[in-house]
Amino acid sequence: MDVDELINLLNKALSDEWLAYYQYWVGAKVVKGPMKDAVISELTLHATEELSHAELLSARIIQLEGTPVLSPADWLKMGNCGYESPSDPYVEEILNQNIKGEQCAIRVYSELLELTRIGDPVTYNIILQILSQEVEHEEDLSALREDLELMLSRRR
Ligand SMILES: [Fe+2]
Ligand SMILES: [Fe+2]
Repeated sequence: MDVDELINLLNKALSDEWLAYYQYWVGAKVVKGPMKDAVISELTLHATEELSHAELLSARIIQLEGTPVLSPADWLKMGNCGYESPSDPYVEEILNQNIKGEQCAIRVYSELLELTRIGDPVTYNIILQILSQEVEHEEDLSALREDLELMLSRRR
């Protein structure tokens, strides 16, 4: 696989990680509604984990003699998964937005895993580590959404 192309794909994923980090971080600040405390702790934990993914990706980009994306203005242009602003702070809405983001991340990292499987065991390992955590994130948020739905349906 072409190294420049790989660096470009890693920079696209790095852009996604910063956007995911901020979406979780600011979501945890503004979220409102039932089960707010549980949602805030989960969003805050996920934010720190997205930041650790950014660390892993940028370290690998530098090992490959590339340059990590230098400007936040490029995150939206380069990212695969976009950014969903938590303009409606209701818990369920924020959970839905972040579940969508995790599903996108899982798709992107699954493709990267396939691409690096043969020629680049080091990148493969890093991607596998990140992908496993994105799968956990998606499960954790879905479990919260399920609890929220159960709670609301019992109240009716
Ligand atoms: Fe991530
Ligand atoms: Fe994630």
